[in-house]
Amino acid sequence: MEIKKIGVFTSGGDAPGMNACVRAVVRAGVHFGVEVYGIHGGYQGMIENEITPMQASSVANIIQYGGTILKTARSKDFMSPEGRKKAYENIRNHDIDALVCIGGNGTYTGAMTFQNEFGIPCIGCPGTIDNDLFGTDYTIGFDTAINTALDAIDKIRDTADAHNRVFFIEVMGRHSGHIALYAGIAGGAEGIFIPEKENEFEDISNTYIKKSRNKQFSIFVVAEGEEDGHAYEIAKKFQERFPETDSRVTVLGHIQRGGKPSANDRILASRLGAHAVKSLLEGQNGVAVGIINNQVTFTPFYKAIYEKKDINENLWIMNNILTR
Ligand code: F6P
Repeated sequence: MEIKKIGVFTSGGDAPGMNACVRAVVRAGVHFGVEVYGIHGGYQGMIENEITPMQASSVANIIQYGGTILKTARSKDFMSPEGRKKAYENIRNHDIDALVCIGGNGTYTGAMTFQNEFGIPCIGCPGTIDNDLFGTDYTIGFDTAINTALDAIDKIRDTADAHNRVFFIEVMGRHSGHIALYAGIAGGAEGIFIPEKENEFEDISNTYIKKSRNKQFSIFVVAEGEEDGHAYEIAKKFQERFPETDSRVTVLGHIQRGGKPSANDRILASRLGAHAVKSLLEGQNGVAVGIINNQVTFTPFYKAIYEKKDINENLWIMNNILTR
């Protein structure tokens, strides 16, 4: 089937660089002579028929902004067959032949189901700060998020130093420790707690005891998804174990989702968006586009969804050497 009209949307948690990706999809569409429609508010917008045509000028002056001009949502309605049927009717009424779906795991799951049910070709672009998608080295938004977290860690380090305190800084990552690992290494954290590893509390406590160089203050980074508990629980345990310390907790939260995308995120998003359109027109679908070792790759949705992307083990080992 010849593709003449493409729909693009962002879905799930927003990520800095999503706008750059939307821009790339629209501009690549114009380049290849296809019409592009923006679907506003993710799958929910598809159900509510929030669909408008976009031109090259619709995406002017957005590359530098966080958030997403197309808005985003986590749609419960799309999980029901009735919701998806309604969405499909709206897509067909606009004569949209294919979709570029920018988001994370939930977005890919929706796209895979939609394509299986209605045969509409879908291609995914990895957009989530968590970097937890299989089939790409990095996701759109991750680089900006770790830099935002790093900026906060550096600031907290000043006050930790001034007061001789121990800080537990919680970063995002619902089920994964990628943000914690990268921000923790870059921020010189003394210990990192991530869901992919076990017994960090024991290891970190033992090291804390052994440290000969009379440390005055400490920074620990905790992933939101850490199985030992959130930063508050870990800090409480630590305080009980080391009553002589004065500990504090900072939860960075949604600050990590916003802000100006970094150069790396803008470039990644531009490459992924442009390749998504090109490859759709060349017949690719049912896949997520990614970049591995600087090469564009395609991963079937089911693999991108169900395979776990491991943390970089070499970084973990290296960090343990540098911080012990
Ligand atoms: O998936 C991105 C993410 O920011 C996670 O790190 C976090 O757990 C979740 O989204 C928060 O979602 P919401 O904004 O819906 O509360």
